[in-house]
Amino acid sequence: CLVKTGTSTPLISALELRPLPYDTYITRTGSLKYVDRIYFSNSEKGVRYPEDVYDRAWSSVLPVEWTQINTTLDVVDSHKDYNPPQDVIKTAAVPANASEPMTFSWTLDTSDDETYAYLYMADIQKVRNNDTREFDIIANGKVEFDPYSPMKFEVEVLFNRVPLKCEGGLCRVQLSRTRKSTLSPLMNALEIFQVIEFPQSETNQDDVSAMKNIRDTYGLNKISWQGDPCVPKQFLWSGLRCNVIDVSTPPRIVALDLSSSGLSGDIPPMIQNLTQLQELDLSRNNLTGEVPEFLAKILKSLVVLNLSGNKFSGRIPQALLDREKEGLKLTLDGYLRTCKSCKKKFPMAAVVGASLSFVAIIIAVVVLVFIFKRKKPSTCKVKRPSLELKNRRFTYSEVKNMTNHFQVVLGKGGFGVVCQGFLNNQQVAVKVLSQSSTQGYKEFKTEVELLLRVHHVNLVSLIGYCDEGNDLALIYEFMENGNLKEHLSGERDGSVLNWRSRLKIAIESALGIEYLHIGCKPPMVHRDVKSTNILLGQHFEAKLADFGLSRSFLVGSKNHISTTNVAGTIGYLDPEYYQKNWLTEKSDVYSFGIVLLEIITGQPVIDQSRENSYIVEWAKSMLANGDIESIMDPKLQREYDTGSSWKAVELAVSCINPSSTERPNMTRVAHELNECLEVYENLSKRRSQNANSSKSTGHSISFASVSDTPSAR
Ligand SMILES: *[C@@H]1O[C@H](CO)[C@@H](O)[C@H](O)[C@H]1NC(C)=O
Ligand SMILES: *[C@@H]1O[C@H](CO)[C@@H](O)[C@H](O)[C@H]1NC(C)=O
Ligand SMILES: *[C@@H]1O[C@H](CO)[C@@H](O)[C@H](O)[C@H]1NC(C)=O
Ligand SMILES: *[C@@H]1O[C@H](CO)[C@@H](O)[C@H](O)[C@H]1NC(C)=O
Repeated sequence: CLVKTGTSTPLISALELRPLPYDTYITRTGSLKYVDRIYFSNSEKGVRYPEDVYDRAWSSVLPVEWTQINTTLDVVDSHKDYNPPQDVIKTAAVPANASEPMTFSWTLDTSDDETYAYLYMADIQKVRNNDTREFDIIANGKVEFDPYSPMKFEVEVLFNRVPLKCEGGLCRVQLSRTRKSTLSPLMNALEIFQVIEFPQSETNQDDVSAMKNIRDTYGLNKISWQGDPCVPKQFLWSGLRCNVIDVSTPPRIVALDLSSSGLSGDIPPMIQNLTQLQELDLSRNNLTGEVPEFLAKILKSLVVLNLSGNKFSGRIPQALLDREKEGLKLTLDGYLRTCKSCKKKFPMAAVVGASLSFVAIIIAVVVLVFIFKRKKPSTCKVKRPSLELKNRRFTYSEVKNMTNHFQVVLGKGGFGVVCQGFLNNQQVAVKVLSQSSTQGYKEFKTEVELLLRVHHVNLVSLIGYCDEGNDLALIYEFMENGNLKEHLSGERDGSVLNWRSRLKIAIESALGIEYLHIGCKPPMVHRDVKSTNILLGQHFEAKLADFGLSRSFLVGSKNHISTTNVAGTIGYLDPEYYQKNWLTEKSDVYSFGIVLLEIITGQPVIDQSRENSYIVEWAKSMLANGDIESIMDPKLQREYDTGSSWKAVELAVSCINPSSTERPNMTRVAHELNECLEVYENLSKRRSQNANSSKSTGHSISFASVSDTPSAR
């Protein structure tokens, strides 16, 4: 169970399972938790799968007062119970001073914890016939075994069948040579485990399914609401109280606090399945509808019920009021109580009079709206009420005022110029269309119609427009940080976007395009996705701009439309669209793939000074080396991780697949990019945590191994 503990999402990349015989490591109760697994060698080499068939990770340790001995001969393992790797048992430690004992220790969490130690023994020293090696094993000052002599070139595993407890959590074991021994003690490897108990059975399954149903129905996204609701205790779901009777009885939910949880609609009917509920707090939500009777009739244990701060209608069930008399602590908004005693107090005439005046008002409004509509017909064929259009439509002289006679030019393009403007003290960008081209007018209309219809945080929003004879202008929100291209090429004051910002910009642009593809009915193709059309706001939030070329799909048409003239920008054009005149959403995916390559590499799309002038060819030649650094933008100065950068590169490559059916859709693209960002951020967070913790913690185990392996149960 990977538990979400903050805003991040738990992530697992791969899971490998290796079966271990059931009776290899045994405990009388509970389960075993890894504490340490070491072998004695100065090689500093970790050993694990495939050398260790069970994938135990052994790290090498050699305390200074011990000396390593090793052998090149094979060490026999005749029992095959533990299967230690040869690398682990071909070395051993002996005390540097042969008359000293070998002492080692480890710490447990508390004095009450129990521990098991597994000692791997094989005498790997060639000794003379009249020599003996024999020693006592003394745990916490008590001799645990008979005097022990390791077998020659054959491994044996010694462990305590009875779990050991240690005072203050500090366990000490000593190997001490006996009087008759001529040789020092010896040990090859060691495993330490601590017993952990899972003393509680899981929550009653009816309660669990009711809680999950409530969570899913109301989309409650509470961080602690994962896994079992009541156990383990430290991961109790927030707002719950459970009664725990004994180890073998499944806990029941007895209190549920869903106050201020943004619930709307009816009271969740599934609450009645929480039959043991004693306290229920639903206060301060937007619950509507009638207060259901089951609160009184089915939830028989209920002693506290808080329904205040909601918008219930109708009457309180009599059964509930009866329960209140019997002692239920019921908290209700006043109006619900007064309503039960204020049945139909309005005189009939007043009700009729009120209704009549209401009807008159409605008629007046309808007539007014009608007159208004007739008097001011809209010139644009957009499906919007004319009132709203009027507010957004500006005269040419207003545009001139707004831009101070087109004084500050922000940019130029085939269509005309973009000027700075001010509208109600708010900065805006005014795109003034050149008067000559007829194509221009068509695109202008497309853009106005589209932008009045679609609204999304990642699409640049249209504030207004001007359509006065030959004078056409579009007024947009102002984007402080210009376009993406300027930042990637370093044109903009040498500003360099870091990897995180680049991934965020990619995600946001992808979401804008995705919205056009699936959020619009009928769907839209942008047809001109490129880095100069991705604008960046004050905080580098990305928005897609320039919808002049966009097309809708006809509803019910084939999944592509044929266009007579290919439009778009060289370098970003989908080859399939270019060759077959087939326009699908996947054409935008291709263009986005090119933008993604620009974001990753910082390279221009077409650069005649490069050996491969087209970015696609260039990237492919670089990828052939399999070296991520050669493709990544050197301006990033290697401030990225291989995981997320490879993933982004692979995604870009899949977007520019020559066959449109092989390309992912934008939903997939946005999802994958989000994963890239997550991988990167999790890693960055881990790095900074490691940097912090390595400063502060000392070693608690006397020769703890520094190992990267997670201590799995
Ligand atoms: C080895 O240990 C014994 C007993 O503790 C001690 O008397 C002796 O001085 C030690 N030898 C060396 C070389 O440290
Ligand atoms: C063991 O035998 C060797 C000769 O093989 C001898 O030098 C040594 O003193 C003997 N050791 C003991 C403890 O008897
Ligand atoms: C709620 O209880 C009813 C009746 O016991 C049962 O049929 C239904 O499956 C339960 N629903 C859930 C989600 O547990
Ligand atoms: C709901 O009412 C109960 C009983 O009066 C009270 O203890 C509780 O604090 C109330 N909850 C909220 C959120 O006001």
